[in-house]
Amino acid sequence: MATLRSHHLFLLLLHHVLTVCSTVAAFSPKDNFLINCGANATVTSADGRAFWPDTSGEVSSFVLSPISHDVVQVSSSDVYGSARVFREAAAYRFNIKQKGRHFLRLHFQPIRSSLYDMKSASFSVKANEYTLFHNFSCSRLDLCRSVVVKEYIIEVGLVLKQLSVMVTPSNGSIAFINAIEVVSVPGNLVPSVASPVPPGPGVEISARTGFETAYRINVGGPVLDSRNDTLWRVWEDDRPFLVISASVHSISTDPDSIRYPSEVPQYIAPSLVYATAQEMADANVGNQKFNISWVFNIELGFMYLVRLHFCDFLSKSARNLLFNVYIDNQSVLSSFDISGKKGFLTAYFVDFIVDVQMDSDRRILVQIGPPELMNFPPDAILNGIEIFKLSDSDDNFDVNHMVHSIDVELTKNQKNEALVTASSCFLGLVFLIIIVVVILLCLRGRRNAKKPTLASFPSPIAPTTHMGNSHTKVSTRSYASSGPSLGIGQLLAFSEIQEATKNFDESLVVGIGGFGKVYKGVLENGLVVAVKRGNPRSQQGLVEFRTEIEMLSKLRHRHLVSLIGHCHEANNMVLVYEFMAGGPLRKHLYGSGLPALSWKQRLEICIGAAKGLHYLHTGAAENIIHRDVKTTNILLDENLTAKVADFGLSKMGPTLDQTHVSTAVKGSFGYLDPEYFRRQQLTEKSDVYSFGVVLLEVLCARPAINPALPRDQVNIVEWAMNWQKRGLLEHIIDPHLARTVSPDSLRKFSGTAEKCLAEHGIDRPSIGDVLWNLEYSLQLQETFSGVIGDGSSSNCIPDLREWIPQVDIAQHDVSVSSDATDVATSRVFSQLMNPKGR
Ligand SMILES: *[C@@H]1O[C@H](CO)[C@@H](O)[C@H](O)[C@H]1NC(C)=O
Ligand SMILES: *[C@@H]1O[C@H](CO)[C@@H](O)[C@H](O)[C@H]1NC(C)=O
Ligand SMILES: *[C@@H]1O[C@H](CO)[C@@H](O)[C@H](O)[C@H]1NC(C)=O
Ligand SMILES: *[C@@H]1O[C@H](CO)[C@@H](O)[C@H](O)[C@H]1NC(C)=O
Ligand SMILES: *[C@@H]1O[C@H](CO)[C@@H](O)[C@H](O)[C@H]1NC(C)=O
Ligand SMILES: *[C@@H]1O[C@H](CO)[C@@H](O)[C@H](O)[C@H]1NC(C)=O
Repeated sequence: MATLRSHHLFLLLLHHVLTVCSTVAAFSPKDNFLINCGANATVTSADGRAFWPDTSGEVSSFVLSPISHDVVQVSSSDVYGSARVFREAAAYRFNIKQKGRHFLRLHFQPIRSSLYDMKSASFSVKANEYTLFHNFSCSRLDLCRSVVVKEYIIEVGLVLKQLSVMVTPSNGSIAFINAIEVVSVPGNLVPSVASPVPPGPGVEISARTGFETAYRINVGGPVLDSRNDTLWRVWEDDRPFLVISASVHSISTDPDSIRYPSEVPQYIAPSLVYATAQEMADANVGNQKFNISWVFNIELGFMYLVRLHFCDFLSKSARNLLFNVYIDNQSVLSSFDISGKKGFLTAYFVDFIVDVQMDSDRRILVQIGPPELMNFPPDAILNGIEIFKLSDSDDNFDVNHMVHSIDVELTKNQKNEALVTASSCFLGLVFLIIIVVVILLCLRGRRNAKKPTLASFPSPIAPTTHMGNSHTKVSTRSYASSGPSLGIGQLLAFSEIQEATKNFDESLVVGIGGFGKVYKGVLENGLVVAVKRGNPRSQQGLVEFRTEIEMLSKLRHRHLVSLIGHCHEANNMVLVYEFMAGGPLRKHLYGSGLPALSWKQRLEICIGAAKGLHYLHTGAAENIIHRDVKTTNILLDENLTAKVADFGLSKMGPTLDQTHVSTAVKGSFGYLDPEYFRRQQLTEKSDVYSFGVVLLEVLCARPAINPALPRDQVNIVEWAMNWQKRGLLEHIIDPHLARTVSPDSLRKFSGTAEKCLAEHGIDRPSIGDVLWNLEYSLQLQETFSGVIGDGSSSNCIPDLREWIPQVDIAQHDVSVSSDATDVATSRVFSQLMNPKGR
């Protein structure tokens, strides 16, 4: 069945590749408009192309109307040195020579000007019937740091041999643009048919379908700019998209040696793309089996074209190269043999169509890995990835999400936050404004909820009625699968929450956090939830409440606890999360009488939590530092899947030009990065340190700080690292683990923990490397269990009773900011300040 399917696929691909007609050596586009907006002189860009000023209507081939006299010029030698500003709708009309597909590239870079605030300009652009984007603002998307080039491929000439690019400022705003390119696309660059994912009959792509470039990646190679590509395209580096950076090894060959067969024209991708690749890194294990994974964030509700470029310059006749390719966990090429099919050093590409439904993951996952059965060294390669968003049936590239208006509100609040710290007399005012805003939002949310039409609105904020449609009982388990589609929390009425928690019945309290009590509740539609109720009088609480909503509304990941809803009515601040039936990780380690977790379960939990943190550090638009990583903030669901929770203290990470964020020290004792403590400079590595403490807690099954113990044992880090340095860490591991742990796995694990706990952040690994090491440790354990069976061999950790954990149920991770006078705390405090004992 599977082979039949892949056979079918190959026929399809073959058909498609054959339809690509023979190549023209150098491409000279029929239409080639390069416009330098707002300039009065021609500028030659770095790639040698001349950009003409947009003032000259008499250049005849294009006109701007109505002509706007608002221009900003700071440099006449740079395309980005000038911009045209629009206060009202205007259009550039290009008279094209050749019907067909055209590249449309729009360049934006705000210029500082006393007259116009380009950074906060919000506007829409249409190109003929295609809506390219709606209310675009580079401040909203945080794109101002560098030039933004939006690239589209659209069909021109279906009706008129004219392309009109219409720029419309949003109400009360301005629009601006620095440069425009309209360039003919060579025939057959764009496919007319592609294989769907999961595999099925080929999907036809109509001429009318437009493409927006989402990602164009030179895998394993350097960034290529418009100088290196005959079609003036830009190819990015693949490293930011790798799930595990240590899983790859970059390889390259001489670009001149790449062969282009007749069915692959040279303009498909430059030889520089085919001459570099990533292959599987050597994991130093006997049976090397893993996938290399790249993950790309995309927008829900669109179809995407994924083009993969391959060129085998690795396999010699002696060595076969056969591998599998997956997109979104679906096998799309199995036991793929490029050299066998296409020949050595030969360029090859394949197109796939991915339909990203509203209820799926907001990302595309591309994976390569070795096939199951093989008798030669496992390896896999990939040379290039292109991902295009396809215009929808209304020729639209942008769904104007409702969520944007919330983003705007939150950004305003963020600005207010600076005032909060600066002057306390603003506090009351800000507080009032926030309450008013939230109440307004609450009211609007409830009003919306009454309109059934909104249920079909493609927004991640599902109105209440949408969820309430089902009156059947929904178990947490089924929520776990439907959960992600709900995304950011909706606004809930306080009365609904009162009902869900039987008016905050004390018997439903499942935990107490810094923010307030946590209750278990059941929503009207049967959804089991965790309800966190804040203390309305706490100023701290309000800031954390906002941070949490702000953070969680931007994030969605299998290993992050998701926010279902929130409410801020009068004095009540309430957050509603998915219910995590397993509770905090700490409960499973000690002090609760729950059955001990096996080593494999512990590793899987640590891997899950590391994935959550990895996503925070690298996956979101801005890097996020959690700041309060500890075993009580890692929650488990009923399947023991770990999720990171509690974003109340989280901070946006350093931006590109900063190396750290300066803040007042916050976090929990026992987990605090000593460097952060000393220098008050926050980096991702502070989370890595705290995670190292979590790893030790998992290994030794005792609290991070236990003041009841002798002085040298109070702090788990000092104590365990002492044993680790003597190479005797296995003497203090949880006795439950004895006899079942692979010594290799333990060594890998404790070595990883040790590196996380390095004194200086710079010496600590990234969370991605930690993740890789933990996965490796799991692999070692699995190999070991496979060989040892029940683990009764002499080759495992013996049952040493040197240390029996003294379990203390009391919570000793006192929050620094709220309670620094605690006796136990101040003792640790002085140790932290004078870390001489180490
Ligand atoms: C461009 O034209 C404006 C007037 O339209 C003039 O003030 C400015 O000096 C000119 N800039 C250059 C570089 O010629
Ligand atoms: C988005 O654009 C529409 C007009 O197309 C406008 O009415 C609306 O106010 C804009 N929204 C924002 C948030 O700017
Ligand atoms: C634009 O805003 C003004 C007031 O700021 C308002 O009077 C006008 O109706 C708005 N126009 C649109 C189309 O929303
Ligand atoms: C891209 O082109 C520029 C200019 O020709 C050149 O300096 C650079 O080395 C090229 N990049 C690569 C990877 O060849
Ligand atoms: C693919 O599998 C991974 C791990 O099994 C899972 O986390 C992810 O959600 C899956 N993605 C899709 C699109 O099914
Ligand atoms: C590679 O990924 C695919 C799809 O996500 C999965 O089915 C397969 O088991 C993975 N292979 C390995 C060796 O992990």
